[in-house]
Formats: sequence, structure tokens, C-alpha cells
Amino acid sequence: MVVCGRAGGGSLVGMTRTQVDEAGTPVDEAAGFAAVRVRGLRRSYGDVVALDGVDLDFGAGTFTAVMGPSGSGKSTLLQCAAGLDRPSGGTVCVDGVELGGMSERRLTLLRRERIGFVFQAFNLLPSLTAAQNVALPLRLAGRRPSRGAVRQALARVGLAERAGHRPAQLSGGQQQRVALARALITRPAVLFGDEPTGALDTTTSREVLGLLRELVDREGQTTVMVTHDPVAASYADRVVFLVDGRVHGELARPSAEAVAARMAGLERGAGVLEQAAGSVAC
Ligand SMILES: Nc1ncnc2c1ncn2[C@@H]1O[C@H](COP(=O)(O)OP(=O)(O)O)[C@@H](O)[C@H]1O
Ligand SMILES: [Mg+2]
Repeated sequence: MVVCGRAGGGSLVGMTRTQVDEAGTPVDEAAGFAAVRVRGLRRSYGDVVALDGVDLDFGAGTFTAVMGPSGSGKSTLLQCAAGLDRPSGGTVCVDGVELGGMSERRLTLLRRERIGFVFQAFNLLPSLTAAQNVALPLRLAGRRPSRGAVRQALARVGLAERAGHRPAQLSGGQQQRVALARALITRPAVLFGDEPTGALDTTTSREVLGLLRELVDREGQTTVMVTHDPVAASYADRVVFLVDGRVHGELARPSAEAVAARMAGLERGAGVLEQAAGSVAC
């Protein structure tokens, strides 16, 4: 197992683990700890370069939004950082452990224990109750989940009373909260969300975002969320912008207005480039 070294520039908020460096020496916690660190991350699909050298730290206990035009590599970044996709180059460290070179088996175990993921489509199993859906990751890990642990996971997302309901009996917002409880039951080092509010109406979306924020503030849950909604991004501590598979600046303590202005600039830029490419083609 490769243990990642000192994480520069991470946040001090919610830091709970003592890290060790390559020599096994505890790293000075004042240096901050990145729950996820990517360096020189590249991912190509044939001729398409989805990620073109991304360096990012996601500090423990922080909430980061990832934004960028469609096709800029946001989903690919999340999938690589979560060990769901193998990068073409560069490194990913989660919770101080480098994913590269891990066997599929070890990677699966790490994903199951240390990484939570929620998607735009809630991906709940329709025939299972909320409680059974939430218990699934533990069952897959060969553990017998206690009723108390499942109930507590549902309580964390405000759904203790809905344990026996099936997905079809729940609203979209409630289904996403069940998916969150399922992602969080193993107490992962990081929660990833790829457009987790993309399928929800405005009011429900705000409820889910408020819950994500609360989990960060109350429990120090490191969270990384892709979104195209500036209001959603404003719930985060930081917004990272991607363009053409590269980091294109960031905003700290973002307001929805500042994020919208930055996105409009990026999309105008992308439009100008497309037009230029179009005029060459003509
Ligand atoms: N499995 C894949 N096969 C081929 N191309 C892909 C695949 N996944 C993503 N891409 C391409 O990589 C680029 C980045 O995609 P993606 O990460 O999904 O962007 P975003 O989430 O920002 O919209 C796009 O050009 C997309 O078409
Ligand atoms: Mg995407």
C-alpha cells in the first residue's frame, strides 16, 4: 500500500485523522490534510482528452463544487477520484492512500469503505425498502448491519420515519436523501455527488443542498459535488472551474452571482472557440 505524503494547502476544518508520511512519521496536522489529492491527472478516451493534467486538493471537512461547460471533464474527474475509472496518467490519493497500482479487489474494498457516491438518478433498488437500500453497502461488504446503524443513517438525513417505504412511495428529494444515507453509512472519507440535485425541483434541491451543507458543518463530511447550478455551488466552501479537462481557476466562499458571472464568461469563451473552429471548417 502506498501511503501518500504531506498534503499541502488542505483545510484545517474537520480534520480528524493523524496522517503519516512515506517514512511513517506522523505529519504535522497544521499542514492540513487533503481527504482527496490528485496530481497530474489525465484521462483519454481514444483521441478524446477528458482530463489534461489536473492538480487539486480537497481538504478534509470541506465542501467543494466542481463546475464547467458540458464536456469539460467534471464527471471524469469524479469517477477517477472515486476509483470508479482508471486514469491514463497521474495520481489519486484518497484518505492518504494512493489508488494507482491497487488490485481491483483492494480498490473495490476501498471504494466500499472509504468513498460515498451519489448520482443524479438516485439509483435505488425499487424492490427494497429505504432501510434495505441503506443497508446494502454493508451487506455487500459481508457485514450484518444492525437495525440501529441503519436507523441512525436514515435519521442523519431526516428520514427515520420512512425506513419501511419503497422508493416509489417517496418523493424525489426523499429518494436522494435515502441515496445519501446509503452513501454515508460506512462513514466514508469523502462523499462525491455528480449533479446530485440535477433531477430535483428548486425547493427540493435546496433541501438536499442544505442537508449536504449541514453534514459538512456538523460532521466534517468532506464533500465534492459537480453541479451546473450557481445557487447549488454557493452552498460549497469553494468552487473549482474546469475547462477542456484543465482547472481554470477557483472561487472561495462563492456567491451564486459570482459563480454565475464566472460561468457565463467560461461559456462565452467556449462559444467563441467553437465559432472560430466552425469558421475554419467552412
Ligand atoms: N466513456 C467514455 N468514452 C468516450 N468518451 C468519453 C467517455 N466519458 C467521457 N468522454 C468524453 O470525455 C469528455 C469529458 O466528459 P465528461 O467528464 O462526461 O464531461 P462533463 O461531465 O464535464 O460534461 C467529453 O468529451 C466526453 O465526450
Ligand atoms: Mg457530467
